[in-house]
Amino acid sequence: MKSNYLFYGGVVFTDKYSIDADIVLERNDAVKFAKKLPNESVQLIITSPPYNIGKSYETRVSIQEYLDTQAELIVELVRVLSPKGSICWQVGNYVEKSEVFPLDMYYYPIFKNAGLKLRNRIIWHFGHGLHASKRFSGRYETLLWFTKTDKYLFNLDDVRIPSKYPNKRHFKGDKKGELSGNPLGKNPSDFWGIIQEDFDSGLWEIPNVKANHMEKTEHPCQFPVELVERCVLAMSNEMDVVFDPYAGVASSLIAAVKHKRKALGVDRSEEYVAIGKERLNRLMNGVLETRPIGKPVYEPAGNERIAQIPIEWTQLERSAYK
Ligand SMILES: C[S@@+](CC[C@H](N)C(=O)[O-])C[C@H]1O[C@@H](n2cnc3c(N)ncnc32)[C@H](O)[C@@H]1O
Repeated sequence: MKSNYLFYGGVVFTDKYSIDADIVLERNDAVKFAKKLPNESVQLIITSPPYNIGKSYETRVSIQEYLDTQAELIVELVRVLSPKGSICWQVGNYVEKSEVFPLDMYYYPIFKNAGLKLRNRIIWHFGHGLHASKRFSGRYETLLWFTKTDKYLFNLDDVRIPSKYPNKRHFKGDKKGELSGNPLGKNPSDFWGIIQEDFDSGLWEIPNVKANHMEKTEHPCQFPVELVERCVLAMSNEMDVVFDPYAGVASSLIAAVKHKRKALGVDRSEEYVAIGKERLNRLMNGVLETRPIGKPVYEPAGNERIAQIPIEWTQLERSAYK
C-alpha cells in the first residue's frame, strides 16, 4: 500500500532509495548510498561501523586504510546531516597482535576536523562477554555523540529514567525543603547499562548465551534495539529521518519506525538486508519481539545454585588453580 502518510494511511517501504519513501533498506555500499541523499535531509545518523577486526562481513586492512575509507563516508554523512542533527557513532576496539586500539580515539579527530562537536562519549557497559587472559576482560564500548551545530535537538524529557530518590529535598539555601528532582525522572547519564546479551536469563539452559536474546539473529554483532531507541527519542522528532549507513539486520530502522520516524538503511550484505526486511515486516505486522526499553537487567539473588561457590573449588588450595 502506498501513501505519503507514515503510520496513518500505510507505509512506503522500498529497497531502493526514493525521497518519497518512509522506510528504505537498500543493499549497497554505504558511500554510494549516502551520495544519493540530499543535503541536510537527515536528522539522526546512528551506526556501528565495521571495526576492521576480521568479522565475516569485512576484509581486514591496515588501520590507516580503514580510517581513510571511513573518512570518505563521514564527509558524505556531514553533508546530509541537518543543522539540528546528530551523529551517534558506536565503536569498540581494534586489536592487532594483542595491542588494543580504542577506535573512538581514532574517529574523534575525523569528526572534529569535519566541523562536528562532541556532546557525549557514552559508555555502553555490558556485564558479560569473552574472558581475556592477557589483559582485563573488555566490558564496554563507546558511543560518540556529535552534533553539527550548537542549535541541536535534544529531547531530554523523552528519555528520563525513574529517580532513585524522588523524595530528595534541598537541605540548605533558598530552596531548602523543596524537592530537588524532576517529576519526569532523572537524566540517564553517559553510562548506559543497556544489555548486549540476556545472559542471566539464558544461563540456565542455553550455553551460547547470545542466542537467548529475544532479538538475536544470524548477525554476529547487532545493536540491541533499546540502545538505538534512546538516541532516536532524544535526538529526533516524529517524522524526522533516521539513517544507519551500516544497517546490518536493521536494528536502527526498527527503533526509528517504532517511534514514528522515517528510516533509511544500507548494508552491503544480501543476507543481513534480507533478515532486516523480514524484521521490519514483522514489526509493521505487530509481531516483532524487542526487549522493552528500560527493562531492568536480571540480578541474581545469590541463592541460585549457579551463583554458589562450587564444591570442587572449596576443596582446593588457591595455588592449585594456577
Ligand atoms: C557492526 S555491523 C552493524 C550491525 C547493525 N548495527 C545491526 O544491528 O544489525 C556492520 C555492518 O556493516 C556492513 N558493511 C561493511 N562494510 C560495508 C560497506 N562498505 N557498505 C555497507 N555496509 C557495510 C556489514 O555487512 C555489517 O552488517
